Amino acid sequence: MTHSFGRRSFLSLAAGGTAAAAGAVLLGRAATLGPHHPLHAAGASPIRSVGGRLELDLVAQETAVCIADGPAKALTYNGLLPGPLLELEPGDAVRIRLHNRLSQPTNLHYHGLHVPPGGNADNVFLSVAPGASHTYDFRLPADHPAGTFYYHPHRHGTVADQVFGGLGGVLIVRGPLDRIPEVAAAREQVLFLKDLPAAGALGGRGMGMGMGMGMGMGRMLGREGPVLTVNGQVTPELQLPAGGLLRLRIVNGSNARFWRLALEEHSFHLIATDAGALAAPVELQELLLVPGERAEVLVQARRSGGRFRLLNLPYSRAAGGMGRGMGMGRVAGRRGMGRGSGGGEPDGPGPWPNAPQTIATLTYAGAVEALPLPQRLLPVEPLPEPVRTRRFLLNHAMAPGRGMVFLINGRPYDHHRTDTTVRLGDTEDWELVNDGVMDHPFHVHINPVQVISRDGRPEPYRAWRDVVAVRAGETVRIRTRFSDYPGRTVYHCHILDHEELGMMGTLQIEA
Ligand code: C2O
Ligand code: CU
Ligand code: CU
Repeated sequence: MTHSFGRRSFLSLAAGGTAAAAGAVLLGRAATLGPHHPLHAAGASPIRSVGGRLELDLVAQETAVCIADGPAKALTYNGLLPGPLLELEPGDAVRIRLHNRLSQPTNLHYHGLHVPPGGNADNVFLSVAPGASHTYDFRLPADHPAGTFYYHPHRHGTVADQVFGGLGGVLIVRGPLDRIPEVAAAREQVLFLKDLPAAGALGGRGMGMGMGMGMGMGRMLGREGPVLTVNGQVTPELQLPAGGLLRLRIVNGSNARFWRLALEEHSFHLIATDAGALAAPVELQELLLVPGERAEVLVQARRSGGRFRLLNLPYSRAAGGMGRGMGMGRVAGRRGMGRGSGGGEPDGPGPWPNAPQTIATLTYAGAVEALPLPQRLLPVEPLPEPVRTRRFLLNHAMAPGRGMVFLINGRPYDHHRTDTTVRLGDTEDWELVNDGVMDHPFHVHINPVQVISRDGRPEPYRAWRDVVAVRAGETVRIRTRFSDYPGRTVYHCHILDHEELGMMGTLQIEA
């Protein structure tokens, strides 16, 4: 299939985002997309709401790109990879006209937003046929938390292919967190993380269609591509003056890859998780982000100068029993699991490398008077005691004639079935039990959650999340309140291949 936009129409589509940059300087050293396809150097060109309204057209289409210097095709919004950066404020009215120029049905999901799950709002049960358009229309509540959110397709049956093929973008909600003086003084930079297939592996087939590890195994593990991109670029350069403060809004836009980040000789000061601010910054030497997960961190430029690598450290998403014979044991960085391979086993040709990979660099340029970190951020209120506790068992099985299926409480997804019915306004605890051999990032739509404990150990700090990693063998207790919006939505594993293979359930919120 050829892409339907010539250069002129592409540029006019891209012209929606020419507003001035409020971000840090980001220089692409090795652009992933070809010269005639401008990069969305994220942070550079947000489309902002004006007068309380955000209105735009999003065209989902196949677009010719260069990946690691080879020609390929990616699935994009408005010809951009990632899609246009959107910026909202609480209370805004949002109107997005989605035009489907793909060969498959699609739709849009506003991952992490607290908005209604039905009608033309965050309705994942809508399906927009090839050639058709649909207008999404909703309003953010006036008290919506500030944070970094993520839009992507969510049409069951095509979501993994389309996200792996490139679709996705970042949505920022500005609010009280942005007005904390130390945070406001920081330079801001979005980092949209996505792994893409190698150009050579694409042939003429387009990116969505199962390459790399081969269809069966790739989907079962969750497909990862070997080309690690940050805002669509390979190893871009970030610049910061000595003494300066950098605020990174990091989004894991991958189909399946867990990103485990570390910045040489610098720590991360975590200020926000998926769904909003922490009470105070938490210092981290490394940051694990599972698919769909976001984090905001501050980086203090406290060296005298130099160039530092932002690394993606090894992480293995499967316990040893799973990978044995396939060259995929656990690698360093995992706590010992008994059933895992510990740290000594060489990984061989598996999809998860043993060595850190450089994904960007931070270069000091100039100097400013040292900026302080904030001491306090925003209160994270505890939820009330739960009215009930439910259990969700995550695992997989071989199904005759279907191959591997992924299950929640023994059942694969069926959109006709209601799996979980809750009452509007109730607080519940959900115990997520993973007795399989692969990690599963569990995601719930519409209402954020707080992690209470992992394997009985209380979480060290309170945070609002919407994706929670549940490692092989682990039990995680989360707490959530079904606020404001009755309706029907879903929860699922955010390894989108697992979601497609059945690891999703329906949630009915009754008024
Ligand atoms: Cu980001 Cu239901 O997904
Ligand atoms: Cu979501
Ligand atoms: Cu999974």
